Parts: sequence; structure tokens; C-alpha cells
Amino acid sequence: MSKNLAVVVPSVGSGKLAPARPIDLPTPGEGELLIKVEAAAQNPADTGWLVPSFPTVLGYDGAGTVAAVGAGVSAFAVNDRVAWMRPSGESVYGTYQQYCLAKASGTVHLPATLLFDDAATLPLAYFTAAIGVHTLLGVPLPLDEAGSVSPVVRDEWFLVWGASSSVGAAAVQLAKAAGFQVIATASQENFAYVKSLGTDVILDYRDPAVVNKIQATASLSLALDAISQPSTCAACITVLSSAGAGGKGKLAVVLPFSGPAPDNVVVRDVLAPDAFAPGHEHELEGLTRLWQALVSEGRLRPHPVKVMPHGLNSVDEGFDRQRGQKISAQKLVYRPQETV
Ligand SMILES: NC(=O)c1ccc[n+]([C@@H]2O[C@H](COP(=O)([O-])OP(=O)(O)OC[C@H]3O[C@@H](n4cnc5c(N)ncnc54)[C@H](OP(=O)(O)O)[C@@H]3O)[C@@H](O)[C@H]2O)c1
Repeated sequence: MSKNLAVVVPSVGSGKLAPARPIDLPTPGEGELLIKVEAAAQNPADTGWLVPSFPTVLGYDGAGTVAAVGAGVSAFAVNDRVAWMRPSGESVYGTYQQYCLAKASGTVHLPATLLFDDAATLPLAYFTAAIGVHTLLGVPLPLDEAGSVSPVVRDEWFLVWGASSSVGAAAVQLAKAAGFQVIATASQENFAYVKSLGTDVILDYRDPAVVNKIQATASLSLALDAISQPSTCAACITVLSSAGAGGKGKLAVVLPFSGPAPDNVVVRDVLAPDAFAPGHEHELEGLTRLWQALVSEGRLRPHPVKVMPHGLNSVDEGFDRQRGQKISAQKLVYRPQETV
């Protein structure tokens, strides 16, 4: 087997990260897979370096082929095409390398028609949205006894703020799979994309009257704010607080929330890596099962992809784009095997 190459972050505040450097090949432990990473997608968190220690290897999202299986793994075999989300901060799990480890419990098989570049856009966005929609907002998993995707609600509305983000796009598709009518916000430039995901009503988040327009269209008790800036949380809370019906509104946010909320709105923070934390095994099993069903049935559309050149060695350019907030309805994808 060839040697491994990785983008290694030596310490907090490191400057340029490229070029990728040689690093040991990890060995899969119990319940783990060694994966040849064909595509690794970039996320905002990569530039935040929320890691336990340095040096570290970044990257949450991966798609590739199984190179070896650890003890106790029966659902996967060498050469299977898969996608997975990084389960923890340890370097062996970072996807910005040619070979990394993954937990079989959070890995799905890919249909032959789903390209690695496309599949790599899904893992973190899916788990973030799914924890929000299903774990925190309490929407039952839309799966029937045969394991097929099947709606669980009807005639109810769901709000997704920021539907052109990768998390928002996944949330729209999860809400639609569950049977909701979806009202969402995006910039006008991305209305066509958000519509193509199945959104029923799309409004411009920059419209000063957007909150009034949402309230005039839909009676809402559930929302996911995929942006979670103070202004977007406040807008979602206003929508939910006036929904009436005597019940409580519930909002899932993707960044820590510390603002005020009225008594009739519950705000809950998503932390995607929690899916792999001890005590969350049942949740992880259900969410991975749903992810597999959605992917197998073609019900989870990947985010639009921009493949970065030179494999992992364009990571500095990608991070500059992320920090400059120049990413709109798109995922930057690196192909580690093409690192030159
Ligand atoms: N808690 C967790 O575990 C977790 C996990 C993953 C991500 N996150 C967080 O979730 C957020 C989204 O991540 P992502 O990967 O989905 O980001 P992304 O795809 O890079 O988001 C970019 C999109 O955000 C949209 N946007 C920006 N400001 C907006 C606003 N005020 N209202 C509505 N849309 C707005 C832009 O829309 P237009 O271009 O249409 O203007 C753009 O398409 C990030 O803050 C990330 O750190 C948290």
C-alpha cells in the first residue's frame, strides 16, 4: 500500500498549510475502516480548528473506497464505495489525507451512480441537519418498516433559514422527506437551486419584510436556522413566537445561541460530532440508517461542487475563500489522491 500524504496543521495560528506531507498510515481498530479518500469536502469549521490537540489533520467530510476493515466489521468490505463523517478530533480521522480511519457505524454505502466528489458534500451537512430536525426538534425518522423513506407528517410547515447553505439544503430535503411543506430563505441568486430541492416557498432573507411574509404564509412551530447569526436567530424566534396554537415553537441552531428567547420558543444547539459521543449509539444508528436510505433512493441531492486543483495542496486557497465568505451554494472539494 502506498504511503499516506496529509495536510497537517502544526499548531494554532499556523500560516500556509500546503504542501501535504508524508504521515503514517493508520490502522483500523474495532468497528473501524481504513479508507482511501477520493474526495474530501471543506466546511466552515475547518478554518476554526476546533481540535483537541496539535499537530492535527483537518477535514470532516469524506468519500472513497474501503482499503481495510477492523475487527468486528461485517457490513463493509475492501473496495466498497462509501461516505462518512469524521467521528472525532483525532488526526487519524481527518479527511484531508490520502488514507484515514472512519467508524463503520457512521458510514454509508454509495450507489454506483453517486460520484465521490458529490458524495463528499453530504456527511457533515446531513448529520448537522438531521440532528436538528430529528433529534432536537423531535421529528420522527421518515422510514417505514422496510427501511424505505416514507413521510411521517402532513399539512405542516417547516422553516429553513439559509437554504442555500450546505446544512440548509440538507435540512430542506430532510423536512420534505418527512412530509412537511417547506418555507425557506435564501438570496435571490440561489432561488432556483433552493426550489430544485423541493422547497415550497422561498423568500429573500435580505427583504426587510421577510419575517412578516413568512408569518403571512405559514403557521410554524418548527424551524432550523442553518446560519445562526444573532439576526437570523432573532428572525426565526420572532416567526415561531407568533405561531400561536398555544404550543411551543422549537428552533434548532447550528452555532451556540446565547440570545433572548420568549417562553414559548425553545432553542436547541446542534453539535454534529455529538452523534459519535458515548450514549448516542441509538441516535447514530437511526440517523445513519436514514442517511443510507436517502442516498440509496436518490433522495438527498449533493451540494453543487467545485473541485479544487492540485489535490490537497490548494487547501490554503480554499480556506482563504472560506474566511472571505466567498462560498455561495457550493462546496469546495479536494481529491487527496491527486495531490501534487
Ligand atoms: N453545529 C454544528 O455541528 C455544525 C456543523 C456544520 C456546520 N455548522 C455551521 O453551520 C453554518 C453553515 O455551514 P455550511 O457548511 O452549510 O455553510 P455554507 O454552505 O458555506 O454557507 C454559505 C451559505 O450561507 C448563506 N447565508 C449567509 N448569510 C445568510 C443569511 N443571513 N441568511 C440566509 N443565508 C445566508 C449564503 O447564502 P447566499 O449565497 O444565498 O447569500 C451561502 O450560500 C456555519 O456557521 C457552520 O459553522 C455547524
